Amino acid sequence: MDQNQAKKAAAEAALKYLVPGEVLGVGTGSTVNFFIDALAAHRDDIPGAVSSSEASSARLKALGIPVLDANNAGPLSIYVDGADEADPHLRLIKGGGAAHTREKIVAEAARVFVCIVDESKLVPVLGRFPLPIEVIPMARSLVARKLVVLGGQPVWREGVTTDNGNVILDVHGLHITDPVALERELNQLPGVVAVGLFARRKADILIVGEPNGIRTLKPSN
Ligand code: 5RP
Repeated sequence: MDQNQAKKAAAEAALKYLVPGEVLGVGTGSTVNFFIDALAAHRDDIPGAVSSSEASSARLKALGIPVLDANNAGPLSIYVDGADEADPHLRLIKGGGAAHTREKIVAEAARVFVCIVDESKLVPVLGRFPLPIEVIPMARSLVARKLVVLGGQPVWREGVTTDNGNVILDVHGLHITDPVALERELNQLPGVVAVGLFARRKADILIVGEPNGIRTLKPSN
């Protein structure tokens, strides 16, 4: 199976975790798009979804799935989202689609985070994929200088504005051996809105699409 088929297989396998009668959270990206398409057949089983981006909201609505306000939805049953990288502990790098701030909010509200990826996303140590950081525009240069001091090479994702009106710095050259500590440290820089590290709130279940089918992983600790 090719990469898209692997993403689709992982996405469809996530339907097994759907809780009838309960609101779920939906992430952003090409893998999640397969999930949203598959979810359409189950739209009568759920009150609706809380979405992590304008793009996913539009796709959900187009398929007749109600999009609910996060402030009114209460706790969510599951959160289904893709990732740019996943380590063996199910800690993630996300934000390749510039949506990770809202993704973090929706993931935090969910009892179970089901992450769906193809096997190209699996790494022993996070950091091969440049780490996305959402930054308030006036703090872009300040935060970039701080990131250089911390050993990274930040690159402004020019031309991209997030759904929240902010900018993205992609930090190259990191070998993230302690993602929880780095997430905490970067979150403290003034001007940083959200770091694309999902280490404190990592995935609970990782469904990996592989050439011969899907594999389901739980954290190794
Ligand atoms: C968006 C994300 C996505 O989950 C991540 O970029 C993976 O995308 P795809 O499923 O298209 O490979 O974090 O901000």
